[in-house]
Amino acid sequence: MPQTLRVASIALTAVSLTLTAAIARAQAPAASAAPPSSPFTVGKAASGETKAALCASCHGPAGNSVNPEWPRLAGQSAIYIAEQLRLFRAGVRNNPIMKPLASTLSDQDISDLAVYYEAQTPTGLEADPSYWKAGEQVYLSGDPAREVPACVACHGPLGRGNLAAGYPALRAQQSVYVVKQLNDYASGARYTGQNPAQASLNGVMMLTLAKRLTPEEIRDVASYVQGMR
Ligand code: HEC
Ligand code: HEC
Repeated sequence: MPQTLRVASIALTAVSLTLTAAIARAQAPAASAAPPSSPFTVGKAASGETKAALCASCHGPAGNSVNPEWPRLAGQSAIYIAEQLRLFRAGVRNNPIMKPLASTLSDQDISDLAVYYEAQTPTGLEADPSYWKAGEQVYLSGDPAREVPACVACHGPLGRGNLAAGYPALRAQQSVYVVKQLNDYASGARYTGQNPAQASLNGVMMLTLAKRLTPEEIRDVASYVQGMR
């Protein structure tokens, strides 16, 4: 092949590869990076209550799970729940239990379930008396010397999170589940894909700060939030 033709054909291949990638991106389901549309505009709590029958075996009646490894959903931010269900559905939050379940949910199901769970009242276990004092210190003050921010800044004085911004509530959350999530953020296991730090709208902050927590701090703060109401 003459030199110019060869260059032209390489250039064409490059163009077609770029195009293929662009088309694949355009056709990919609006999952990971795209901010979810607000569940409040389309979600109906009454439909969510019916649909939640599928979830109650693990997340408990009205989202109050009794298994320490299965998170409480009662009172959780609807925006956060909807985002997490989309991430499970897309396989970005890579959980072998939740991915197949979330794959059966339509966008409408996700919105209905999200607004239903946010409207429920969390109940649950108390904090462990051996750890909650130290945990309260971490929660309220962090450790400025090690650039650990105070959790209260985003998760709120009562652990209710910031519902409108989609910052999750932590109050009454199972401490075993909280420990697992903090370790998963630190190790990078919580989200998979090309850019796990950008997988969720706000996840990047937790990825950074979880790495700065010691195992004792994780245990203590998890115990503290379990007792918050
Ligand atoms: C077989 C048990 C099981 C069932 C049934 C189940 N889940 Fe889950 N769910 C889990 C587990 C376990 C996790 C925690 C995954 C992890 O460790 O990251 C979870 C996590 C979640 C989370 C993330 C919570 C958070 O705080 O980040 C949401 C939201 C959720 N589930 C919603 C649902 C909904 C809605 C249904 C019903 C359609 C459902 N789940 C059914 C076991 C279950
Ligand atoms: C700058 C705001 C900010 C600060 C400070 C912060 N968080 Fe978070 N946290 C978030 C956001 C936003 C999320 C949701 C991230 C995502 O999309 O994965 C989150 C998620 C979490 C989760 C997972 C919740 C679930 O249901 O799975 C836990 C646990 C958590 N944070 C604990 C803490 C602790 C403990 C501290 C203090 C040491 C803390 N956070 C400080 C904003 C913050």
